[in-house]
Amino acid sequence: MEIIIQPDSQQASQIAARIVAKIVKEKPDAVLGFATGNTPLQLYKNLARMHREEGLDFGRVTTFNLDEYVGIPPVHPSSLHSYMWAHLFSQINIPRERINIPDSLATDIPALCRQYEQAIRSAGGIDAQVLGIGTNGHLGFNEPSSSLYSRTRIKTLTEETRLNNAAAFGGHDNVPLHVITMGLGTILDSRLCLLMAFGKKKAKAIALSAEGPVTAAVPGTVLQLHPRAIIILDKEAASELKMADYYTWVYEHKPSWQKY
Ligand code: GLP
Repeated sequence: MEIIIQPDSQQASQIAARIVAKIVKEKPDAVLGFATGNTPLQLYKNLARMHREEGLDFGRVTTFNLDEYVGIPPVHPSSLHSYMWAHLFSQINIPRERINIPDSLATDIPALCRQYEQAIRSAGGIDAQVLGIGTNGHLGFNEPSSSLYSRTRIKTLTEETRLNNAAAFGGHDNVPLHVITMGLGTILDSRLCLLMAFGKKKAKAIALSAEGPVTAAVPGTVLQLHPRAIIILDKEAASELKMADYYTWVYEHKPSWQKY
């Protein structure tokens, strides 16, 4: 794992954007995995700006989103479809047919999940998966106790996650109970995992994920098993890491060819 600690979320998001942009420039038909939530908003803003001002070309890129709420129509303002169109897809030149988000209205959910996994494989696998983390350590919607090798499937949200997402639905009671999410095994298959976390409320989940024992009780710990996981944090999210000084020292002493 490479842990990068920045003074604030803005600088952290600029590094994340440079990493994603480099992948797209080197491989114009790259396959990108996207996440939702507050955390990647500045990354998406940066990517949209790079498209507008620097001509970053998404014309051949394929995307797969991590998750979606079950039973919420794509056009619903709180759906993760709506989020992605509002914050990124409407602002870049990605062809609609190259965008993949789990179908929230699928009648046969197990079949849909199998098709989603197959579509990722057919696209050649995910080159870079953007991730945030829940306060309970979840990745995507893989809540604690998710199998570390799980695949795309239906999950039931914890009350903690429903409370954290209450604002988007105008109250906790309106947050769906069920979601479709890529599994931790699906995430592990991506060639690069790019996890961002900002703010004090993420500090514990980050410390456990990066420095705690690997356990299904903290899904973020699965990144310790990934050959190339980059974790980009602001100071607050890094505040409970025991080896924070070491990570900063390593980042400052990267060979120049390895810098982002
Ligand atoms: C949600 C999403 C995750 C996201 C996480 C953190 O439940 N399914 O993909 O990373 O919670 O959200 P936020 O970035 O808003 O803190």
